[in-house]
Amino acid sequence: MAGAVVDVVTTGYLTLDDLVLHDDRVVRDALGGGALYAAVGARIWGATVGIHACAGGDYPPRYLRRIEGGGIDTSGVTVGPERSLRLWLLEEDEARKQQLPKLASATVVEMDAKRGPLPDAYRGAAGFHVATSLPATQSAMVRAIRTAAPTASVTLDVWTESFFDAGLYRDPAFLAGVDAFLPSDKEVEAIWGLADLSERLRSLAALGPRTIAVKRGGQGSLVFDRSRDMFWEVPAVPVSAVDTTGAGDAYCGGFLAGLVVAGDPLDAALRGTVSASFVVEGHGAQAALGTDPSEAERRLAALRPRVRQVWP
Ligand SMILES: Nc1ncnc2c1ncn2[C@@H]1O[C@H](COP(=O)(O)OP(=O)(O)OP(=O)(O)O)[C@@H](O)[C@H]1O
Ligand SMILES: [Mg+2]
Repeated sequence: MAGAVVDVVTTGYLTLDDLVLHDDRVVRDALGGGALYAAVGARIWGATVGIHACAGGDYPPRYLRRIEGGGIDTSGVTVGPERSLRLWLLEEDEARKQQLPKLASATVVEMDAKRGPLPDAYRGAAGFHVATSLPATQSAMVRAIRTAAPTASVTLDVWTESFFDAGLYRDPAFLAGVDAFLPSDKEVEAIWGLADLSERLRSLAALGPRTIAVKRGGQGSLVFDRSRDMFWEVPAVPVSAVDTTGAGDAYCGGFLAGLVVAGDPLDAALRGTVSASFVVEGHGAQAALGTDPSEAERRLAALRPRVRQVWP
């Protein structure tokens, strides 16, 4: 699929993850990274997807072939530093989690520097998801996308980890040019606080995004649409969760695919929720590659009547 024009692009990291889960299970060498989980989430809805990321020189070629085998274009993956971005994903309990680059990892600074500009073949995409990377990199990427593709849909995720300063997210210019902002409740709490949440979301949406969806783990998500001044609660799909790593990223990818195919933010949130439900059923992004589209449609139809409007 080299150089193919794609419907949507995810830009961010491609990682190799070692997980210590809250119930003491340890999982080694899972295919991870926000760009990959989001691509998998978008692919579930039939969108053609390209990944704009950087892989370390030691990233196994068979892993890239596996991703391509799932129908995801990897022509936007550059080869960067010698080593891959290898993360410890550490869970203390279902709510307290942290990520830490391993001693044998490339740094996020190296990865951001080597990702390079958006490939020409991806500039015609209808949607772009800016997955987590250093805040300054994400900000520059949103601006670059807006210049290259002024009418495309742009979604943005954020993170707060100990190895970088998340303070830049508070810059009011950060959300300019973003159509949908998709943080988790933990990130909203850490960056802005959860008090007066409805007012907080209204004021953040006034900085740019038409839609904000706050991801709440097994509780689902809270969706705000500025153009209608409406809030909805979208519950999670009831599945047996094996590993929730990447659920937030898959939600973002499904959300973007929904924005591009359906154009409606609530429909987008439903698709994001369904995409996440497949990712939590297994370990690593590979688990949800090749998801059955009819099962995705079935989950979407079952979820739709469970949405509740709140704060009318
Ligand atoms: N246990 C679960 N069962 C079903 N769906 C889940 C579960 N946990 C999360 N999800 C779905 O995934 C979405 C995103 O999850 P979450 O809020 O954990 O994102 P996140 O904190 O950004 O995750 P991460 O950054 O680890 O990918 C939720 O809104 C929900 O729809
Ligand atoms: Mg997240």
